[in-house]
Amino acid sequence: MAKMAVNIKTRDMTADDLDDVLVIEGASFQIPWSRGIFLGEMAQPFCHDLVALVEGRIVGYICFAIVCDEIHLRNIAVHRDWKRCGAASELLSRMIAISSGKGARYGTLEVRKSNVAALELYKRFGFVVEGTRPSYYSEAGEDALIMWANF
Ligand SMILES: CC(C)(COP(=O)(O)OP(=O)(O)OC[C@H]1O[C@@H](n2cnc3c(N)ncnc32)[C@H](O)[C@@H]1OP(=O)(O)O)[C@@H](O)C(=O)NCCC(=O)NCCS
Repeated sequence: MAKMAVNIKTRDMTADDLDDVLVIEGASFQIPWSRGIFLGEMAQPFCHDLVALVEGRIVGYICFAIVCDEIHLRNIAVHRDWKRCGAASELLSRMIAISSGKGARYGTLEVRKSNVAALELYKRFGFVVEGTRPSYYSEAGEDALIMWANF
C-alpha cells in the first residue's frame, strides 16, 4: 500500500554521506557498489550523485552520468522504510532537470527483467524497453532490459 506523501529534498552526495548510502546499497543489491566505487563516481566531472532526504535523513540516492546528449542512469536505490513515498521519483525528476539543463535529450539504463518496481518506475518517466542483454547479471544469469527515453 502506498504511504502518505512526504517532503523529500535532494542535494549533491558528499563523501560524508557514504556510511548511510552504503547501508541502503548493501540492502538493495546482490553485488553492491563499494565505497571506492562511489568515491570514484564523485570524482568524475561527467558523473552526478544526489541524495534524497526526509527531515535531514538520507533515504535514497541516484548516480548518473551525462555523456554528450545522453543520460546514463548508473544507480538508484531507496531505503526499504521509505519506499513508495516518491523518493526515487524525486531523484529521477532532479536527474532529468539537471541533465536537460546541460543539453541531454535521451536517457538510458539497464534493469533486471524481474525488477518490477524499477521497471514500473522507469515507465512512468517515459523509459521504454529497446533491447536485452542476455545473462547480463552473471551471478544469476538474468537478462538485463535496456531502456531508453526521450526528454
Ligand atoms: C526501484 C526503487 C528505486 C523505487 O523507489 P521508490 O522511492 O519506492 O519509488 P517511488 O515511490 O518514487 O515510486 C514511483 C512509482 O514507481 C512504481 N513503483 C515503485 N515501486 C513499485 C513496486 N514495488 N511495485 C510496482 N510499482 C512500483 C509505482 O508506479 C510508483 O508510484 P505509486 O507509488 O504512486 O504507485 C526502490 O524500489 C528500490 O530501491 N529498489 C531496490 C534498488 C533497485 O532495484 N534499483 C533499481 C536498479 S535498476
